[in-house]
Amino acid sequence: MKITEEEKKIAIETTRQLLSTYNDSRGNLIPVLQQVQNKLGYVPAVAMEEAAAHFNVPAVDVYGVITFYNQFRLTPPGKNQVKICMGTACHMRGAHIIQESWERRLNIKMGETTEDREYSLERVACVGCCTMAPVVLINEEVHGKITPTRVDGLIFAHQLDKQKAKEGAAQDE
Ligand code: FES
Repeated sequence: MKITEEEKKIAIETTRQLLSTYNDSRGNLIPVLQQVQNKLGYVPAVAMEEAAAHFNVPAVDVYGVITFYNQFRLTPPGKNQVKICMGTACHMRGAHIIQESWERRLNIKMGETTEDREYSLERVACVGCCTMAPVVLINEEVHGKITPTRVDGLIFAHQLDKQKAKEGAAQDE
C-alpha cells in the first residue's frame, strides 16, 4: 500500500522525535517501534529506515523484528478496523475459517488494509465474550457466532449504512 508524501513526512518527523529520546542501545529498538506504532497506528518503511540508521543495524533486521512480533502493523489502519478473535474458544469454533472469509471478501491478508483504506484486518487475543465464539469486533462493536455468511451480511450492512449516510449528507446540502 502506498502512503502519501504528507504521511511520509509526518512518519519521519515523528520517528526522529521519538528516537531523539533514546540512546543507540539496541535494546531500545522495540520500545521505539512500539511508540511509533502508538503514535501513527502502524510502522511505515521510512520509520524502519530511521530506526535502522539510529541503532546502526541493517534495515532488514528492523523489518525482521517487526514481522516477528504480530503486534506491529505495516500499513495504516483502515477506517473500519475488523478484529478477529483468535483466543482459544474462538479458535476451537473455527476462527481461522472466519479469518479466511474476511480475507477473501476484502481481498487482503491479516494485518493489511484495503486499497481504499475502508477496512483493515487484525487478530486479537480473547476479548472476553467466549460464549459468543467465534467473535469479531468491528470498530469495538462485538459480533458473536460469526459464520462465513454473516461476514457477507456484516459487510453488506456496513455498505448500506455508508450509502445511507452519504444520501443523508447529500439531502442536507
Ligand atoms: S476466545 Fe474469543 S472471545 Fe474469548
